[in-house]
Amino acid sequence: MTRVGLISDIHVDLNRIKGEDLVTDLLARESARRNLDILLIAGDISSDYRLTLLTLARLEEGSGARVLFVPGNHDIWNEFHPEAKAWDAYNALLEHLGNLARGPVALCDGWAAAGDLGWYDFSYGDGSFSFEDFERMKYGERTWQDKVKSIWDRGTLDMHRLFVQRLEAGLPAEGRRILFATHVVQIPEFTVAPPGPMWKYFNAFLGSPEYGEIAQRYGAEIAVCGHVHYRRRVLKGRTLFVCPCLGYVAEWPAPPDPEKEIAETLQVFELGPKGAVPMPWVT
Ligand SMILES: [Fe+2]
Ligand SMILES: [Fe+2]
Repeated sequence: MTRVGLISDIHVDLNRIKGEDLVTDLLARESARRNLDILLIAGDISSDYRLTLLTLARLEEGSGARVLFVPGNHDIWNEFHPEAKAWDAYNALLEHLGNLARGPVALCDGWAAAGDLGWYDFSYGDGSFSFEDFERMKYGERTWQDKVKSIWDRGTLDMHRLFVQRLEAGLPAEGRRILFATHVVQIPEFTVAPPGPMWKYFNAFLGSPEYGEIAQRYGAEIAVCGHVHYRRRVLKGRTLFVCPCLGYVAEWPAPPDPEKEIAETLQVFELGPKGAVPMPWVT
């Protein structure tokens, strides 16, 4: 049996009070307390790839668990490296051996973890908007920050297509039990619903149902994503879709209780030869 903990969107640069990181040490401690063999983070660790790498190292050291991750859109932002393109940060993160974008990782008992960042294809946006509307990534006064901080070498739909191709090329052959991970939202159930006027637009940048279709087509038993700052699970066919986002301290009930938020968000499963057994949220 391998005990794996799933969490996403820990945003260690933003989840601070008076400059103090609220998350890293507590998450490491909670991972140790829950006896995790593997901690899998579905992206948005920070908005600076260098801090993301430092955080991964601290989590490994403090938890005793092997840390796997997929990058989130924040992890590849150039906010702190204005000269950098998205690929610069994406490629720097590939040097970490726990990055699933390098290729699938074999776990115990025939299990494998596979995943990547993923991108979006606007299909979760409302049909009343045009392709050009979505390409602007601006609604009223609000600009979707990937427009200015994620500078790829190709258009949005081409990025999505590239991630679909990479994921499919990397998925293990038949006979493996699969833990599938993207940062972006894989199923419409995890988009913002009911969307107000603003989210009818901004849902467009959450992901694509194609990622969920890949998870189901390859028989993934667990499919984890982040990005939307929800904490939910949905079972579809044999695939349990999990969205375990810690989110921003500003989104937690006041006064903030990081220990409780982390304990409630971290979703733990025991992976064995017969499948995945969910462990209680808080033990
Ligand atoms: Fe996030
Ligand atoms: Fe995100």
